[in-house]
Amino acid sequence: MRELLVKYIEEVNAFVAADASEAEQFRLKFLSKKGILAGLFAEFKDVPPDQKKEVGAMLNELKNALHQKVEEMKQSFEQAEKPAHEGTDLTRPVDNFEPGSRHPLSIVRNEIIRIFSRIGFSVAEDREIEDDWHNFSALNFPEEHPARDMQDTFFIEKDPDILLRTHTSSVQIRVMEKMKPPIRMIFPGRVFRNEVISARAHCIFHQVEGLYVDKNVSFADLKQTLLFFAREMFGEKTQIRLRPSYFPFTEPSGEMDISCNICGGKGCNICKYTGWVEILGCGMVDPSVFENCGIDSNEYTGFAFGMGIERVAMLKYQVHDLRLFFENDLRFLKQFAGSV
Ligand code: DAH
Repeated sequence: MRELLVKYIEEVNAFVAADASEAEQFRLKFLSKKGILAGLFAEFKDVPPDQKKEVGAMLNELKNALHQKVEEMKQSFEQAEKPAHEGTDLTRPVDNFEPGSRHPLSIVRNEIIRIFSRIGFSVAEDREIEDDWHNFSALNFPEEHPARDMQDTFFIEKDPDILLRTHTSSVQIRVMEKMKPPIRMIFPGRVFRNEVISARAHCIFHQVEGLYVDKNVSFADLKQTLLFFAREMFGEKTQIRLRPSYFPFTEPSGEMDISCNICGGKGCNICKYTGWVEILGCGMVDPSVFENCGIDSNEYTGFAFGMGIERVAMLKYQVHDLRLFFENDLRFLKQFAGSV
C-alpha cells in the first residue's frame, strides 16, 4: 500500500486539467463514494499495526493534496467561465464621452517650438521661483534701476532675494552659465508680474525667449530669424518692422511689429488703425551679460528675443480678452478641439 500511496500523491500533485470536465473527472476518480480515496481508507484497516502510523500519515497527505487540487481547479475554472460583464447592466445608457482638447496656449507654444526647431533651435526650461541674480542682476538690471519698476513681481518677506520670475530671460542666464557657445535655444515658460488684471494684462502669463550665441552672429541674423518666424506663424505675406527700444540686457534693443494679420495692414481696431501690431522685444546680447555668465564677449556675439504666448495667441485666434485663457470656461476652450 505504501508504494501505491507514493504513486497517487505524485499523480495528484502533477495533475493539470485542460478544462472543467477533465477537472470533474479527476475529482470523481479520487473523491467519489466509490473512488480511490474511499477504497484506500477501506483497506487501511488491514494494514499491520506497526505500519499504521506511517501509512496513516501518507493517506492524510494524499487526502489533503486532493482537496487542495480540487479547490484550486474549481477556482480557476469558475473564474474563466464567469462572463466579463457579470455584475454590469448592459442595458444602461453609456456615459457621454467628450474628448478633451489642448489649451490654446499649449497649441501656440507647440507651434512656436515647432517653427524654431526647424531652424535648429532646441528647447530648455527652468525654474519659476528665481533669485535676483538670474532674473535681474545678471541681465544688467542694476539694483534700484528704474527698469526694474516695469517688471514688479511677487517677493517673500523672509528673503527678498527670492521672487517669481518676471520673464524667461532668466533661463538665458542659467543656460549661458552652464554651456559653452554655440547656443541656439528657446525657452518657453510661465512668468509672473504684479499687474492689475485686465483684458490686456494678467499676473500670470507665458513667454518664449530665444537665444543665439556664436562667433559672428549679427543683427541681420536676428532680423532674418524673426522674419522667418513671423511668416511661419502668421502667414507668408506678413511684414515685420523693428523699432528702437530699450532693454538692459540687449544693445541695441528693438521691438518688433508685424503687419496686422486681421486687416492686412489697412487699419482696424486691433492694430488701432496703424496697420502694425507689436509682438516681441529683441536685441543683441549686451557684452556685460556675457561677462556675467563667463562668456568672452570679444570672441562671441549673440541675439535674443522674447515674446508673450498670450499675445501671439490673441492675434492668431482674435481673442480680445486675455483673461479667457485662465478662466477654464469650456465654451471658450472647446473652440480649439481638434488642434494640436
Ligand atoms: N524679457 C523681456 C520682457 O519680458 C522680453 C525680451 C526683450 C527678451 C528683449 C529678450 C530680448 O531676450 O532680447 O519684457
